[in-house]
Amino acid sequence: MKRALGVCYYPEHWPDDIWAEDAARMVEAGLSWVRIGEFAWSRIEPEPGRFEWDWLDRAIAVLGEAGLKIVLGTPTATPPRWMLEKHPDMLAVDAEGRPRGFGSRRHYCFSHLGYREESRRITRLLAERYGSNEHIQAWQTDNEYACHDTTLSYSDAARVGFRDWLAQRYQSPDALNRAWGNVFWSMEYRSFDEIDLPNLTVTEPNPAHVLAFRRYASDQIVAFNRVQVEEIRKCSDAPILHNYMGREVSFDHWKVGADLDAASWDSYPIGFLSDRIEGDEAHKLRFLRQGDPDNQAFHHDLYRAVGRGRWWVMEQQPGPVNWAPYNPAPLSGMARLWAWEAFAHGAEAVCYFRWRQAPFAQEQMHAGLLRPDSAPAPALAEAAQVARELAEMSESGTSAAPVGIVFDYESAWAWEAQPQGADFDLFRLVFAAYRACRRAGLDVDILPPDCADLSGYKLVLVPGLMAMSEPLRAALGAFEGRALVGPRSDGKTEEMSIKVPLGPDLPGVDVSVVRVESLPPGASVPLEGGGALRHWREEVEGSAPVRLASTDGQPVIVGERLCYLAGWPDDESFYRIVAGMAREAGLEPLDLPPGLRLRRTDSHLFVFNYAPEAQVWDGVEIAPAGVHWLPR
Ligand code: GAL
Repeated sequence: MKRALGVCYYPEHWPDDIWAEDAARMVEAGLSWVRIGEFAWSRIEPEPGRFEWDWLDRAIAVLGEAGLKIVLGTPTATPPRWMLEKHPDMLAVDAEGRPRGFGSRRHYCFSHLGYREESRRITRLLAERYGSNEHIQAWQTDNEYACHDTTLSYSDAARVGFRDWLAQRYQSPDALNRAWGNVFWSMEYRSFDEIDLPNLTVTEPNPAHVLAFRRYASDQIVAFNRVQVEEIRKCSDAPILHNYMGREVSFDHWKVGADLDAASWDSYPIGFLSDRIEGDEAHKLRFLRQGDPDNQAFHHDLYRAVGRGRWWVMEQQPGPVNWAPYNPAPLSGMARLWAWEAFAHGAEAVCYFRWRQAPFAQEQMHAGLLRPDSAPAPALAEAAQVARELAEMSESGTSAAPVGIVFDYESAWAWEAQPQGADFDLFRLVFAAYRACRRAGLDVDILPPDCADLSGYKLVLVPGLMAMSEPLRAALGAFEGRALVGPRSDGKTEEMSIKVPLGPDLPGVDVSVVRVESLPPGASVPLEGGGALRHWREEVEGSAPVRLASTDGQPVIVGERLCYLAGWPDDESFYRIVAGMAREAGLEPLDLPPGLRLRRTDSHLFVFNYAPEAQVWDGVEIAPAGVHWLPR
């Protein structure tokens, strides 16, 4: 498997007489990919219908002739100011009904069909002009769908689109009323035209209404992206990617991913630790300059699945970022470790963001591989080291993981619509399960909710899945390994009502959840043998054998091979549960110290030290931010 490094570059930010030198320095550092273009619309089409291609032609030629392969981004995340005169109603509208104005980026509403056509038009022009250009070897659609909270828009365009979407899904207002339970509080509708978006209601809207709107909004992103893919494919055979984000669950990445050739994501480990990952102060201080030791790996595994095996890191943090509340600098070595970790999880390419720190505008405090004065920033040498190491190492691709964890975006929306406990969050729950597997040293595949074949796995976890698909239910029934379903799984219908008879419906397991409770921070339910449940706990009935109980005598895990977990275990207990089931499944779980993490490829075992002090693995001392690999 060929692995490569790259960088994000903005030729439009720099005088054209330094492009050639920049390109030569990129090549000298061992970079092979350069991503350009994704915010350059105002320079490509300065006025409606007037194009300036010349600079982009030259930039592509200069970079390409230097030996770099180019990822060309469509510039639709940043429509120029004139676009608002053409389409005054194209802005997204926030939940309070205020338009989200011009002056930054992502100022468009996914439901606005006029803007969708503009996005088709500019994509077609780019694809026609560069589709057969030998230097354009990959495409990126738009930039970070959903970034800055842009999935949901309460615009007029969204209202019109939503009504149409509802009519197609439910066919009649009666069917919709029944599906949503609108008899409750006299919310029944006589026609689809009476249905508004679920904002500005007096108190909470019907969760089924919210869930429908979330599904609708996600479908608009799928449709928006598909338009670009259609245009690019007419003119180019190069792979098409999108750069997804960390901890972003507001649209269904499985569905967007189905239209693309590969996935990619933007990895900012230190920014995420500070503002996107739960953890106590001690954890945040310990990993201040490294990032959470499991967060990058989780997203690598998620996006490997979303990309059906093909994925990249499109943006890799190189130094301090600008957007978190506090922005520490990485420990020396982390820009290398993060890249190697991505490769160990199967990334085809890792591109640092960005080449040179911009001295102007919003991201002037965001590091690059070069300083604003063009001198090397510390990450440049680390990138060059990775490039040299890649060239010396023949490494043979990602290996089959023994553990699968199901991840479902619709469930994330459902639990946001009706959390029941203020801190119940699907990502957090799935991540807790993932962390337990990683502490046990187990490699993980993330699985889609309609996964129909589990036969390659030894252990499968299904946390927080609102409604189980029939293919997954059948696959669990046929599964010969160990599976742990729950908590809060398969208790609802597709329309988010409580299932009657009560769920879950697990083949061969007699168990039903008869009552649930959520627990505030600090409250817990102690378990037999130590540890506790937190956040969430379920009372179950049925004859399935009890494997674990709480000290008050309630079952917590029931079943034999296929089990149900009736609560949210704390980290220690989650680890014990997962390690125990892994052992039963014939695996050999470890108990890795926090910060030491493993990943196997077909040819190597990689060991990563996220800790701020040296750690020993198998007699080898690994420095802080150190990476160690050995043949398998
Ligand atoms: C990403 C984005 C980039 C840049 C970067 C800064 O979210 O795609 O354009 O803003 O963050 O960290």
